[in-house]
Amino acid sequence: ANSMRCDELLFSYKGILYPTTLCSPETFKALESFEARRDDVILAGYPKSGTNWLSQILTDLIAISQKKTPGSESSANAEEQEEFPYLEVGDAEKYERMSKLSSPRFMVTHLRPENLPISIFQNNAKILLLIRNPKDVATSFFHFSNRLATLPSYETWDDFFTNFMTKKMPWGCYFEYLSEWNKYAEKENIMTITYEEVKENPALSVKNIATFFGIPLTEEQLQLVLERSSFQSMKKNSDKTHGSFGNILFRKGGVSDWKNIFSEDQNEKMDKAFEEQIAGTKLGKKLKY
Ligand code: A3P
Repeated sequence: ANSMRCDELLFSYKGILYPTTLCSPETFKALESFEARRDDVILAGYPKSGTNWLSQILTDLIAISQKKTPGSESSANAEEQEEFPYLEVGDAEKYERMSKLSSPRFMVTHLRPENLPISIFQNNAKILLLIRNPKDVATSFFHFSNRLATLPSYETWDDFFTNFMTKKMPWGCYFEYLSEWNKYAEKENIMTITYEEVKENPALSVKNIATFFGIPLTEEQLQLVLERSSFQSMKKNSDKTHGSFGNILFRKGGVSDWKNIFSEDQNEKMDKAFEEQIAGTKLGKKLKY
């Protein structure tokens, strides 16, 4: 991370903070007129929920749907796509170029639904919504921010925790993110999955995801997708797929690392926020908390 002041690394757009090096008001403006397609494959998730992991699974499933073998010359990894898959990251001409890409297009977004282009919902594009326990999200985010030069660094974990709980995170507040997505969670073109359930039963998760996107899968193809998306193989291949960013991204890849860093008081504070804001909602019930 970087000792530069927070307000140089982040900017505010419609009340939410974003990293200056990745996003811009011009790109957000251009995004409003983005034309989604019914067969777009969209992954939505708050940062640090495992979006790179599910991106790996989805790009392999897309390759399979196109009769390609994942990992072969002809099929690109998410990072090697013609356009960087993070929808809101890039220059303002990105959407013009994307309009010329052939279907199915794959994209990832950390945006809240109200900040996504309206055509995604109007055209009923399918969305896989990925959620992860907020304690592990915060833990992952803390280590990530402190190791990535383009994000603010935090002197202490306590410092980070305060920011996380007071909505001062890039891409906004975790709890608000879930509250907003709750309004869409009933829609049939949205499938919700938790990081924890993919971790616990990857085979069933991949099968369910493939079914949701209408992609037939043989047992052999399933095994290939599972092998390529395991934490070990993604970490091992990260030089090729993610460059030096991979060293920062593939940290522990597990569940409950928060127990190594949360104080009793912080644990109670987060339980309270969870109880008050999301426990009773559809996504709150689905979340492995
Ligand atoms: P940790 O920091 O807890 O290890 P994102 O891709 O949304 O930035 O999320 C990053 C988190 O997903 C990191 O969590 C990372 O280790 C984890 N992750 C990445 N690939 C994974 C995989 N194949 N299996 C499990 N977790 C993975």
